Amino acid sequence: MSIQVKKRVDYRAPVFTITDVNMDVRLHPTQTRVSSTIEVKRNGEHDLPLTLDGDHLTLVSLTINDTPHTDYQETPGQLVVNQVPDTFSLTIVTHIDPQHNQALEGLYLSGGTYCTQCEAEGFRRITYYLDRPDVLARFQVTLHGDKDTYPTLLANGNPIARGNNDDGTHWVTWQDPHPKPAYLFALVAGDFDLLEDTFTTMSGKQVKLELYVDKGKQDKGHFALAALKRAMLWDEQTFGLEYDLDIYMIVAVDFFNMGAMENKGLNIFNSKFVLASQDSATDEDFFNVEAVIAHEYFHNWTGNRVTCRDWFQLSLKEGLTVFRDQQFSADMTSPLSNRIKHVRVMREHQFAEDASAMSHPIRPEEVIEMNNFYTVTVYDKGAEVIRMFHTILGEQTFRAGMDEYIKRHDGQAVTCDDFIAAMQSVTDIDLSHFALWYSQSGTPVIEVTTQYDADKGLMDITLSQHTPKTADQNDKVSLYIPVAFDCIDSQGQHYQDDDGQISNGMLMLDTAAKTLHFSNVSEPLIPVILGNFSAPVKVDNELNASQLLAVFKYAHDNFNRWDALQSLYSWCIVQYEKNTENNVDNQIWQGLEQVITTEADNHELLGECLVIPSFETLCQTRKLVDVGALNRAREAFCKAFADNLQQPLQTLFDKLPVNPYQYSQQAVNARRCRNVVLGHLARTADAQGLIEQQFANADNMTDSLGALKAAQISAGPLFDKLMTQFEERWNQDPLVLDKWFGLHATTERDDILSQLTLLQQHPRFAMGNPNRVRAVVGSFAFFNTAGFHRTDGSGYQFVTDYLLELDAVNPQVAARIVTPLTQWQNYAPQYQNLMKTQLQRLMNHGKLSGDLYEKVSKSLA
Ligand code: ARG
Ligand code: ZN
Repeated sequence: MSIQVKKRVDYRAPVFTITDVNMDVRLHPTQTRVSSTIEVKRNGEHDLPLTLDGDHLTLVSLTINDTPHTDYQETPGQLVVNQVPDTFSLTIVTHIDPQHNQALEGLYLSGGTYCTQCEAEGFRRITYYLDRPDVLARFQVTLHGDKDTYPTLLANGNPIARGNNDDGTHWVTWQDPHPKPAYLFALVAGDFDLLEDTFTTMSGKQVKLELYVDKGKQDKGHFALAALKRAMLWDEQTFGLEYDLDIYMIVAVDFFNMGAMENKGLNIFNSKFVLASQDSATDEDFFNVEAVIAHEYFHNWTGNRVTCRDWFQLSLKEGLTVFRDQQFSADMTSPLSNRIKHVRVMREHQFAEDASAMSHPIRPEEVIEMNNFYTVTVYDKGAEVIRMFHTILGEQTFRAGMDEYIKRHDGQAVTCDDFIAAMQSVTDIDLSHFALWYSQSGTPVIEVTTQYDADKGLMDITLSQHTPKTADQNDKVSLYIPVAFDCIDSQGQHYQDDDGQISNGMLMLDTAAKTLHFSNVSEPLIPVILGNFSAPVKVDNELNASQLLAVFKYAHDNFNRWDALQSLYSWCIVQYEKNTENNVDNQIWQGLEQVITTEADNHELLGECLVIPSFETLCQTRKLVDVGALNRAREAFCKAFADNLQQPLQTLFDKLPVNPYQYSQQAVNARRCRNVVLGHLARTADAQGLIEQQFANADNMTDSLGALKAAQISAGPLFDKLMTQFEERWNQDPLVLDKWFGLHATTERDDILSQLTLLQQHPRFAMGNPNRVRAVVGSFAFFNTAGFHRTDGSGYQFVTDYLLELDAVNPQVAARIVTPLTQWQNYAPQYQNLMKTQLQRLMNHGKLSGDLYEKVSKSLA
């Protein structure tokens, strides 16, 4: 394998283009025959050969304009065809082996279904092609497969003909009228249950909706199909975007490397994001199904109709589409819990990525393996950048910019700069400074300092920004940061700054620092920063406990209120770390008790506010973390929280309604709040009964799992007993069983490593099943703090041993799971050394995939 670094600045337009593709695919487990005829055109004046991409292909024949052509070379990864005319028809026949394709890229056969995954560069595993997103062609595909085993044969677009062959196989021809890059190609063959519906678009066109699921799982598909219709309607109403084919298909498969894929007219989904029923899916699962269904649907315009010129522009479609799905989810459910959910992802994972060797701007500069750049930075920080456009421009102007973007670029493969230019064309605000968000990596820190002059009644509040250097960039500049700003006193009065620098509650921090002046003040004011998380930054705002409680009480922005309590908890945990826990005094507990009693009916807010920041979030506000010490401090605070607040928590718990299951926002909020409270009560003496009762009485997966998680905290006999019952009940349901595996893998117990070994020997564990591998090894590495960071290094070693095996099977999944190891910078030296030892072991292995090599080598550089 040759390791090749590709750079954004090296982009060159393709020297040939392809206008039409006609494929004939005869499915066979180990020898699928792919005949592909492409219409090729020389691009510009040159006499270069035609160089096609190809991987894991066996070339059978090659003809140009129906005449055998022998002047070509096969090199690793490429086919160079010499002496080609300016315009010609090239037919290439190859054989591929879907059954042994365990990387799950290209065409693969698993669980009895053929399916494809081509983004980013998987199409080259199907046939030789110009496998790059700026080559857009019309595709026609004929599939042949055994009639009984594969009654369903699907590809992109519309079915235009079908028939039977003499050998017992049948065939279907599909035609996609929209030119598309190869990464949006898909085919599926299998035997499914089908759910059908229709949607009438805003211009009155009837679209057929088809959802394909494993036999017997039809009942679990209704929610997804209904969610699709909500997404279609929302995109018309919010962005004026209408669906453009006669049929929209979604197929759910159990073996899939990621969440889902927006192939034109034929989405392929990890079944985790399609199948949902009251007894087997949690509220969170329902939420995610709706969000992912919408995400893939929204790609039809932001991704498919307007696509990326090259893969460095990935955030063009992903950041924008994540923003769109977040807005949709907020409209379907509730803005506050959505915002908090996404901020948690930023603080737990994106900030960590930016602080690691994998740090990159939302538009990366250098890539070895593109699959490594489907990151929280490109996706989630990318969405935050789009959200800032929305904040700065305002809803209407943002919409005008979107209209202009689509109008200018429909049918094209474009860049992030094209997006910015479209937005610029509708506003007088100069966006050139703001655009640096695309090129600068790292998490900016906004520092808040105050000066109070009691005699004159004056207060100055200074906000200054700096971005710490990152692994990929030393020099940082000031960014253009929209900072939501509010200012209160201890009695809840709100204050305006003298010079009106704050407008509509926003300060545009576009220089290194800005100072706001306040007069006629009789006490130090409390700055309330970053309402609704108006920018993806950290805030260093040293408020004390009583100020934080005042913010909770009086701030207008619910995100700020939630965030104030998060800061308060974080401050308390610091006291436990420093053995000054006496500072966590009665005043604080009383303040928190008041939070619980005054907001007792606001289940949504309380359900969020009673969550103690995760270990991962806390890590991002500390340097060189002593894992053991922080974990113990956090746990000690959690215990004190439960003990000191037991009574109001118990009262709240008893008052929270338990009604027959319904997936409605109100019911979700109440369940969430109840389960969060149960988690706290689980740390008190008499919780066993509550947990057992909830587990026994639950009529839905949210409450069953809530009980299990509560039992997991003490990891005693009750947990073991409930887990055994749970396994017996759900042994046949892979998605629920993943939850069971995940719970075991995240339990903090001394013998966790032998537990993990047992899990891997479980008859239902399989290295070839990405969901299962993520449930066991992924959850352990990402979320079992005590186990993964064992001080003898055995947790790291365990994961590394596994990765060495997994990498040979599925590099993409291996490269995901290595992430926590590559983030060693965040930990104290004794942990760092042990982590680096294991990374070095990976490095020494010598046969690493490009995926793993890129992340491991960067993290050791
Ligand atoms: N475009 C897909 C989505 O976000 C994800 C594709 C991920 N591909 C990958 N190689 N990781 O909807
Ligand atoms: Zn996407």
